[in-house]
Amino acid sequence: TLLAGAVALAPMAAAADMTIGFSQIGSESGWRAAETTVTRQQAESRGIELKFADAQQKQENQIKALRGFIAQGVDGILLAPVVATGWDDVLEEAKEADIPVILMDRMVDADKSLYLTAVTSDLVHEGRVAGEWLAEEMAGEPCRIVELQGTTGSSPAIDRKTGFEQGIADHDNLEIVRSQTGDFTRAQGKVVMESFLKAEGGENICALYAHNDDMAVGAIQAIKEAGLTPGEDIRIVAIDAVPDAHLAIANGEMNATIELTPNMAGPALDALEAYLASGTEPEKWIQTESRLYTGADDNMAVYEEKKSLGY
Ligand code: AHR
Repeated sequence: TLLAGAVALAPMAAAADMTIGFSQIGSESGWRAAETTVTRQQAESRGIELKFADAQQKQENQIKALRGFIAQGVDGILLAPVVATGWDDVLEEAKEADIPVILMDRMVDADKSLYLTAVTSDLVHEGRVAGEWLAEEMAGEPCRIVELQGTTGSSPAIDRKTGFEQGIADHDNLEIVRSQTGDFTRAQGKVVMESFLKAEGGENICALYAHNDDMAVGAIQAIKEAGLTPGEDIRIVAIDAVPDAHLAIANGEMNATIELTPNMAGPALDALEAYLASGTEPEKWIQTESRLYTGADDNMAVYEEKKSLGY
């Protein structure tokens, strides 16, 4: 089954009679699709009824979905918030209805009392790891960097930018010369990289930092079409560690990626079940791991393993 490894680690305690709503952002990336799959699997393996709402990248759709879940009296809500701001009112409504909300993979700018917990990676740390990796790779050589940002106003776009800037801060040889959103999609990653190549001239770009792998994979295509060799002429570091990134690293077309687990639902549902069963309050932040993969790893083996799990 898809991503069976992730599910096998979860407790199988049945939560019969439990109904939860999941407001998902959409399907902008391979990582997002995997998160949806794992969430469905996690709910099913625990006997939880999952009401799924795809917001097609729109916050207004997410707010509507949350209000729908509240009206239906679900036992809990999982929310992957597309942007960081604008959640206060609907989170207040959930709180008044006594429905716990758990944030998944992205943060909100709202009072912590408005949600039960947040299951996310350290998004600033991910960016910092990418920056530090590039600083080490360049070893003092001058490098003009282009950056593909995630969705404007989303916490990963904000934090991964901040973290990367921290990671290169002490290295005067490294300079971000262009930075624009590619909305976390392959298609936009390609389009925006084409514009970077045109504006700067491919030979003047030394590295690409993309806030996710999908944009990096789109950019690889643009770099090839410009007659350059991705991974060599332009070094590429991104975030997620989706199978296609491992494949690109194995093929020498990409240099590094930082892993983000798609299994946010496991820890989220553990916390929700404990809270509903006994009132146990989880920590406000359940942090998932971030692991760096480079060409030094056996990326082909990781690619095959992830593919065999249906990722
Ligand atoms: O919020 C997590 C980010 O959202 C992932 O890195 C990206 O691929 C997704 O779209």
